[in-house]
Amino acid sequence: MTNKLYKLFFTLIAVIAFFNCNNNTKKEDSTTLKESFKNDFLIGTALSNLQINQTDSQLASLLKKEFNAITPENDMKWEQIHPQKDTFYFDVADKYVELGEKYNMHIVGHTLVWHSQLAPWMQNVKDSITLANNIENHINTIVKRYKGRIETWDVVNEALNEDGSFRTSNFHEVMGDSFIAHAFKLAAAADPDAKLVYNDYNLWKPEKRAGVVKLVKNLQAQGIKIDGVGMQAHWSLEGPSIKDIENSIIAYSNLGVKVSFTELDVTVLPNPWDLDGAAVEQSYEQFEGDPKMNPYPVKLTDSGQTQLAKRYEDIFNLFLKHKDKIDRVTFWGVNDGQTWLNNWPINGRTNHPLLFDRNFEPKKAYNSVLALKK
Ligand code: XIL
Repeated sequence: MTNKLYKLFFTLIAVIAFFNCNNNTKKEDSTTLKESFKNDFLIGTALSNLQINQTDSQLASLLKKEFNAITPENDMKWEQIHPQKDTFYFDVADKYVELGEKYNMHIVGHTLVWHSQLAPWMQNVKDSITLANNIENHINTIVKRYKGRIETWDVVNEALNEDGSFRTSNFHEVMGDSFIAHAFKLAAAADPDAKLVYNDYNLWKPEKRAGVVKLVKNLQAQGIKIDGVGMQAHWSLEGPSIKDIENSIIAYSNLGVKVSFTELDVTVLPNPWDLDGAAVEQSYEQFEGDPKMNPYPVKLTDSGQTQLAKRYEDIFNLFLKHKDKIDRVTFWGVNDGQTWLNNWPINGRTNHPLLFDRNFEPKKAYNSVLALKK
């Protein structure tokens, strides 16, 4: 009798433990970013060279738990992947794509044609046929290599000025704005199923917005495929306004393309007074080491965390309001230790712009974003 009772008792405990454990797993899953927003949009992150090459277990577990899309922070830029006319370097890009497949992620290619981080051999090609051929070889080789595996391409990056006119670059000087159509046509032919995106910063600005609208309409009028506009989203605590961002989401969506936020981060540090945008060539050496420009070298204050949380809450509230128009929100980095904003536009600062801190711990901002789905 006692034996039977014991057995019954232990069975009961085992059953309770089983259900408890199941419950916990469920609870944990539904509180991750990718699970919470799975019916709204993809949640992506950018991976640095170190992160692609290293099998850091802390990083790997956070990556697969929280994110379902990735972008290579630098390793597919022209200077990295095609450093000389006849030399392609695919080692890191291959690893990056394998990583995305291992975790079943949406894999983004960044970026095919960009004036910045361009290989030196391409900087001075002055003949339009040679330049067009070089772009063709570049796009065909890379896009075909990853056909069916890289699902979205940032085809052209940052072709516009702040007033919506075309940026002066070697591409534009030599080929005029036809380099954009050329690039999109080639990408579409190389992988007809890939989603093709025009990507740029400050796309909330009304003048730049008008420039993008013109650019997209121009491609569409020529029957050239473009699937999306990527708003980089390098923002700050103060701006841009939610209204400006919203107006751009609506304007781009009205063109029949999807909007993605491709490089989201929110700087909490003071910026040099005349800095606007995210042009990577800008740098302010005179401020290096100036403590006024680096107010949180150890950790962000509680009030800073609260401000950041509120800003992210407002931003994600807007994203949710327009989730039918948005297909992806990608953070420009996994955690604060990795962010490019530790070194841009001033070298050697300690920034705190993401949802995870330097120890991979979720911040208050993480909770405020998740709370929107509870
Ligand atoms: C940045 C990287 O994060 C840095 O590591 C690199 O030194 C410079 O480029 N717009 C873009 C991204 O499209 O490719 C840039 O990435 C940030 C601005």
